[in-house]
Amino acid sequence: MTFNRSVKIAPSILSADFANFGAEIRAIEAQGADWVHVDVMDGHFVPNLTFGPMAVKAFRPHVKTVMDVHLMIAPVDPFIDAYADAGADVLTAHVEAGPHIHRTVQAIRSAGMKAGVALNPGTPAEAVAHLVDMVDLLCVMTVNPGFGGQSFIDMTAKVRRLRAMIGDRPVHIEIDGGVDPKTAPLVVEAGADVLVAGSAVFRGGSVGTPEVYGRNISAIRAAAEKATGADLG
Ligand code: DX5
Ligand code: ZN
Repeated sequence: MTFNRSVKIAPSILSADFANFGAEIRAIEAQGADWVHVDVMDGHFVPNLTFGPMAVKAFRPHVKTVMDVHLMIAPVDPFIDAYADAGADVLTAHVEAGPHIHRTVQAIRSAGMKAGVALNPGTPAEAVAHLVDMVDLLCVMTVNPGFGGQSFIDMTAKVRRLRAMIGDRPVHIEIDGGVDPKTAPLVVEAGADVLVAGSAVFRGGSVGTPEVYGRNISAIRAAAEKATGADLG
């Protein structure tokens, strides 16, 4: 994983067919996904339940790009080694999930993974100011976490603040929730580079019609890249 700020689309498999994850992951990667986003929910930090480490480990052999694991769980620390063993490349914890985010980030890196910290919509950028020298990714939630398919909450002011705090440091800004071709340019223009998208990627497609995923990914990427002024080729 070499660092760059080009736009990366990370489909969330929360919107995939839950009876067919291997094929869904292979389909989105074949159709242009840059990362694969895995949403881990515990029914306590967020009001929904998804994947334990055994499920995530089963996804691993299908992911050829980057497995980006978003923990919406509390506590986090007792599970870090299990998600490392499951093969997470990036492991993101919420700053709101416990009193010792600094320790959590250290533990994620010591376990050999890239460390991310996520901020709920109600949490200000300043909550992670002391972490910018020790993280690889900051994730700005643009929905209240727990479910796919919710409407985008405008957090562009927070993204701008984080982008200014990061400066030249190799830290990604990821956006999670309600990303589609309409909202993607707003956050990319503000400084984001990783765009998680669940419903906007999987909508209308299936493993039998993967070209729909490809069209959905391309539409988000094209809209986002316009906001960077990048050459679309
Ligand atoms: C929300 C999750 C998101 C979710 C995004 O709790 O963290 O990753 O899957 O879904 P969409 O793109 O449908 O808002
Ligand atoms: Zn997520």
